[in-house]
Amino acid sequence: MNSGADVRAAAARQLAAVVQDGKSLAALYQAWGGEPSRDLALQRALVTGALRWHHRLQWQLGQLLSKPLQRKDAELGALMRIGLLQLQEMRVPDHAAVAATVAATAVIHRKHARGLVNAVLRRFLRERSLLDAQMVEVPEAYWSHPAWFLSIVQSEYPDSASDILAANNEQAPMWLRVNTQRVSVDEYSAKLQSAGFTHTRDAELASALLLDAAVTTAELPGFAAGRVSLQDRAAQLAAQYLDLKPGQRVLDACAAPGGKTAHILELCPNLEHLVALDSDPERLATLGGHLQRLGLQADLQHGDAAATADWWDGQAFDRILLDAPCSATGVIRRHPDIKLRRTLQDVQRCVGLQASMLKALWPLLAPGGRCVYATCSVLRCENQSQIDHFLQTEPAAVCVEARQYLPGEANGDGFYYACLIKPG
Ligand SMILES: C[S@@+](CC[C@H](N)C(=O)[O-])C[C@H]1O[C@@H](n2cnc3c(N)ncnc32)[C@H](O)[C@@H]1O
Repeated sequence: MNSGADVRAAAARQLAAVVQDGKSLAALYQAWGGEPSRDLALQRALVTGALRWHHRLQWQLGQLLSKPLQRKDAELGALMRIGLLQLQEMRVPDHAAVAATVAATAVIHRKHARGLVNAVLRRFLRERSLLDAQMVEVPEAYWSHPAWFLSIVQSEYPDSASDILAANNEQAPMWLRVNTQRVSVDEYSAKLQSAGFTHTRDAELASALLLDAAVTTAELPGFAAGRVSLQDRAAQLAAQYLDLKPGQRVLDACAAPGGKTAHILELCPNLEHLVALDSDPERLATLGGHLQRLGLQADLQHGDAAATADWWDGQAFDRILLDAPCSATGVIRRHPDIKLRRTLQDVQRCVGLQASMLKALWPLLAPGGRCVYATCSVLRCENQSQIDHFLQTEPAAVCVEARQYLPGEANGDGFYYACLIKPG
């Protein structure tokens, strides 16, 4: 890739692949690899930014075009949204952004649309204040979120809805988890500092460090040698909520790609047994790779958490972590494509799946044992209502603690934790 136009064109193609064809941003990140060149970094920023601001950019484009684009013009539409993004959210001078975006029409084989792209971007620059004033009346565009999500968040969080929505539109910070089996937090923090990576320590979580600026994993001291992992602080709370003790039998029921499995083992290396279960063999293989890098071991099992007869050996667990599949509405700032990809029907499917997993796993918990139910969701139906419903069907279960963390709270992702005890 050698010119600004090529970068914009490549970004437009990838953006269209997510918006029109349903490709995930995570799949794009995998294809992009770990060590971006300057061009690739810009391409990533354009795609990620255009997904983050999709609902706003789409509305603006609708106001600026005299007739809607046809479906076959998905890449052209994506290119125009990338053009609008640069004029609002990026530090590219306006004239350079317009010129490179207009030139990219040739790269995506839409040379005839040069004039249209130029006219749309220039009209935006002229009419921006008017559009900004009109946008205040269009919540989907103003907050850049889908309508279904806005209405749930506004009704469930009347006092903090705007904070949640604003946090979802922020770029997520980079959190590290130090592998205390390999290096002390003090020692690793000093190594980071001397490598020039300024950071702060978390007040509550001993292993968590917050970097002032994002870096690639290759730049992190000792990453390949398993001294550190990337993991948001809110995700690091899971191992703490489990209240682990040496000699326990632990089940991590939806374990892949293994961030929490690894943390459990780093925090409590003398467990009797840790089963890491997941229904996705590819993700389970990724988990295996992560554990290998960190020098940790677990009993990896491929199976359905809701069909325990297929894999359970009949020995009860002292601890169960159910980090359930969910809407992922607490991690939108990390995965802005969730705003486009998730539907209310998906959420309802998740609620059913979560309930069936809770019900199936409960008999596997030993008397006196603790089950931690977790989601990276902010929706009540997946969180508190799910647990309330479970407690009605299992009256012997006691919920000793439940906490909803909102996106941006303590700089962390949105997460929900409920600790359920089975009386001894
Ligand atoms: C939220 S992710 C888990 C993240 C993981 N705990 C971590 O910290 O890295 C949910 C996982 O549940 C798995 N999953 C979905 N349905 C499942 C099922 N029926 N049984 C077991 N695992 C399932 C998915 O493959 C996915 O890996």
